[in-house]
Amino acid sequence: MIGASRKAGARRKGTDVRLTILGGGGFRVPLVYGALLGDRAEGRVTHVVLHDLDAARLSAVSRVLAEQAAGVPDAPEVTATTDLDEALRGADFVFSAIRVGGLQGRADDERVALAEGVLGQETVGAGGIAYGLRTVPVAVDIARRVARLAPDAWVINFTNPAGLVTEAMSRHLGDRVIGICDSPVGLGRRIARVLGADPDQAWIDYVGLNHLGWVRGLRVAGRDELPRLLADPALLGSFEEGRLFGPEWLGSLGAIPNEYLHYYYFNREAVRAYRTAERTRGAFLRDQQERFYAEAGRADVSALELWDRTRAEREATYMAENRQAAGAGEREADDLSGGYEKVALALMRAVARNERATLILNVRNRGTLCVLDPEAVVEVPCLVDANGAHPMAVDPLPGHATALVCAVKAVERDVLAAAESGSRATAVRAFALHPLVDSVAVARRLVDGYTAVHPGLAYLR
Ligand code: G6P
Ligand code: MN
Repeated sequence: MIGASRKAGARRKGTDVRLTILGGGGFRVPLVYGALLGDRAEGRVTHVVLHDLDAARLSAVSRVLAEQAAGVPDAPEVTATTDLDEALRGADFVFSAIRVGGLQGRADDERVALAEGVLGQETVGAGGIAYGLRTVPVAVDIARRVARLAPDAWVINFTNPAGLVTEAMSRHLGDRVIGICDSPVGLGRRIARVLGADPDQAWIDYVGLNHLGWVRGLRVAGRDELPRLLADPALLGSFEEGRLFGPEWLGSLGAIPNEYLHYYYFNREAVRAYRTAERTRGAFLRDQQERFYAEAGRADVSALELWDRTRAEREATYMAENRQAAGAGEREADDLSGGYEKVALALMRAVARNERATLILNVRNRGTLCVLDPEAVVEVPCLVDANGAHPMAVDPLPGHATALVCAVKAVERDVLAAAESGSRATAVRAFALHPLVDSVAVARRLVDGYTAVHPGLAYLR
């Protein structure tokens, strides 16, 4: 098997770089392709292989990419397939951006949780556990196939819940899988901006798990500028996380949390806002994307323009309920450009060209956070080069943050154990031990509710 994949690789020209995107019919694929089109340097991606289970989605996204590539010399060639093994053979990089159960699954995750009065967000709390239980078996199957068919490939995991899914895959791929998220970079950039610092010259001291981390410092030329921000309510009120959490709470914490910590620190308010919203985020995106995929195939429609309008609407409404609960107002124009495709490209460049870069990534802990074991995937600044991503030494977290990180990692471990053993009791324990699920009885009903709506959870016995 390994020989076969090597041969496929060897047949290609030396300068060929092949990127396979799993979930290649996904809505955010054009962001990635747009970033690739802007990369003119030696060693750039020359061939993109889109894989998806749904051929219609593949053709809709292919139309968008074709419009993006029009007039761009040497645009990376794009091919599409519904055959997973074919997509993986010969890959140098694999982006895994799948959504098991689709956006209907995401909406169901939210609905079942909200009916119990707890959060159903796709990465946090009950919803994140349900989504993890559905996704881990699929991600593990992919990881095993990559290990067999493309053992030298680097896998970049976009699939949420990203930390948990990366950890599941790392059990089969070791350090060849790296998880990414744009929220830490976005946060770092916003803090640098309000402090008048160049984000590319700043060292961002960010530590935690995916969607559960804190910026404890921002050093420019060796000097920590964060205390200046924390002491200035006006400055704190001038960016997204400052408005979301409020200057007073940030002053008390002495750190700036990732926006997803709003679900923890203001749980009651967030749950209330989600319960009273006309539609949940998942249901909104489900309806929005249904329209997009239906219309993108029409001959009289520019798939790219349609995609761009749809994307703008998605970004403008991101975390709208949290902002509403906090009275934080609209998002800022600078925050609407997404960014995770930039993280992915920067990571791929650093690995492919041995261009050293410091990026905040999801990797195995080693000894970085001493309260967690070496195999636990954490989200920390990493030095990236041709040998992969190496977590950098960081100061320990304060007690309250350590407690949350350890509690959530224990839940993730139960999700992984339940996915491996098929034990329903272990799945109940995962829900029950989550800090945002307030009763074992609720946890039991959540498992009943989720197994009733998700065929992908039939393995829980
Ligand atoms: C942020 C998060 C991602 C998430 C994305 C889109 O970038 O870090 O994990 O996938 O937002 O969120 P949405 O609600 O639009 O799907
Ligand atoms: Mn994320």
